[in-house]
Amino acid sequence: MSRVVLSVGGSLINPGKVDVLFLQKLAKLVNALSKEFQFAVISGGGTPAREYASAVRALGGNEFVADEAAILMTRANAFIAASALGERAYPGVMEDFNRAAEAVAVAERRVVVMGGTIPGFTTDADAALLAEKIRARRLVNLSNIDAIYDRPPRRAGAKKFSRMTHSQLVKLANEYDMRKAGTHFVFDNIACKIIARSKMETHFVNGKDLKQVEAAIRGGKHDGTTVK
Ligand code: UTP
Repeated sequence: MSRVVLSVGGSLINPGKVDVLFLQKLAKLVNALSKEFQFAVISGGGTPAREYASAVRALGGNEFVADEAAILMTRANAFIAASALGERAYPGVMEDFNRAAEAVAVAERRVVVMGGTIPGFTTDADAALLAEKIRARRLVNLSNIDAIYDRPPRRAGAKKFSRMTHSQLVKLANEYDMRKAGTHFVFDNIACKIIARSKMETHFVNGKDLKQVEAAIRGGKHDGTTVK
């Protein structure tokens, strides 16, 4: 069975409070497609991760500790995603790649769920690494941004990429990185480099639009961006 890693943005799971309806709909889709694909889900941190990290900083904690707090919140989101999947979820939230890969290997019909791993990373990079590790057929990034654009999407004249190569993506992520804070690229720099080195087919879609998500899972045409 083809393996597909779903990287679910924290802003979809918890934009301020847990979006139960979104998780139920996503779980329904994952369940329906589990006859054809084996899924692993990585959850982002969303608002709680940011809140906890800044609370740690306000209390005098350093960046490493702030990241540790944020990771706990990505895992809390993963736990909630697993709850939506019920029996379909492999028991427990995975905390490292080897354990996750082992679970993927032994339980083809279950969905392995994971949050963040080590400080200094993002769940984009975690998703890219897990996809690499388990030799996923493709990686699908679900976020509240519908595709990759050549400049911040709200800026005038922004052009959407329907398809792009890995090297185009790495170049664009780098350009964003050099700009001032506040221009947050869809997928972090390290994650872009990881999918590039493994030539991982990656799709960027609006995670709220489950028709788009399904098309991406199948490797078909959609309104987002396909990188390959
Ligand atoms: P996210 O991957 O959700 O970061 O991890 P993000 O870029 O803020 O994404 P959105 O806004 O949710 O889509 C949340 C935070 O958790 C820590 C980092 O502090 C990150 O900003 N984290 C996550 C790690 O330190 N290591 C990880 O492996 C994952």
